Amino acid sequence: MQETEYIWINGNLVKWHEAKIHVLTHALHYGSGVFEGIRAYDTGKGTAVFRLKDHLNRLFDSAESLKMKIPYSREEIRKAIKETLKINNLKEGYVRPIVFYGYGKMGLNPEGAEINIAISVWPWPQYIEGEAKVMISSYIRIHPQSLHADRKVTGHYVNSILASIEAKEKDFDESLLLDYEGNVAEGPGENIFVVKNNKILTPPLRKQILPGITRDSVIKIAKGLHYDVLEKDISVKELKNADELFFTGTAAEIAPISQLDEVFFKNHEITNKIKDSFKEIIKGKNPRYEEWLDFV
Ligand SMILES: Cc1ncc(COP(=O)(O)O)c(C=O)c1O
Repeated sequence: MQETEYIWINGNLVKWHEAKIHVLTHALHYGSGVFEGIRAYDTGKGTAVFRLKDHLNRLFDSAESLKMKIPYSREEIRKAIKETLKINNLKEGYVRPIVFYGYGKMGLNPEGAEINIAISVWPWPQYIEGEAKVMISSYIRIHPQSLHADRKVTGHYVNSILASIEAKEKDFDESLLLDYEGNVAEGPGENIFVVKNNKILTPPLRKQILPGITRDSVIKIAKGLHYDVLEKDISVKELKNADELFFTGTAAEIAPISQLDEVFFKNHEITNKIKDSFKEIIKGKNPRYEEWLDFV
């Protein structure tokens, strides 16, 4: 990863290599942290953070699922993110706020452990380069009755790590996880979209997948381009009979899928239309969506 100079931690800006924590940090042992992945873009009118308020709302929702009281307000964190981008002179890049149960308490109930918050920023090119070769994972997405699968909690990502390792071992770029009922869920860090007969389909939000902010943006962009968008359960068969497939996510942005298991997808026409529109928006070139940009 590409380092920057400063990390914001518990209200202070410290040098990148000095942003350290104790080995008995609760979250390190038990996965009791919540985080966000956000992007800032260099627009014609300066750097803007994409849908920052929505990311902060999701961070607070995630914290609430762990009964974690974040010791800063949304507005304070919003300001701290902008400050961290500015001090690092980062015009475009990735923003990673994390709130976690820290030192002071071992045992599973985190009550009594200190709550820490850190904000790091760094340059991070699109996570999936070009078109993705995807396999259907042998792991299923975490069950919503086992964990709050619609929240961004650090411990949940072991499920994503296992699916990613499996995909790399089998020479794929990425995996796709089904849910506990055998329907299509999502990638390890991306939501999935299907294009079929000019209609755009994506799995519904039934607390089994992360409510992606790029997913929501794509739904709005596609409707704005006059496509029908349907949030519905999708079977593997529908997926393999699709005209086009693509992933969405802050890190991956909009990534066309060229292969799913043994099936190849050569057509990315509608995916590319949506992607072009998304690119215009994040670069501040479409005034209709300017409210999605929070200028630094
Ligand atoms: C499991 C999972 N699904 C989907 C996404 C995409 O969400 P977003 O578009 O908000 O980045 C992410 C990334 O945050 C994720 O981790």
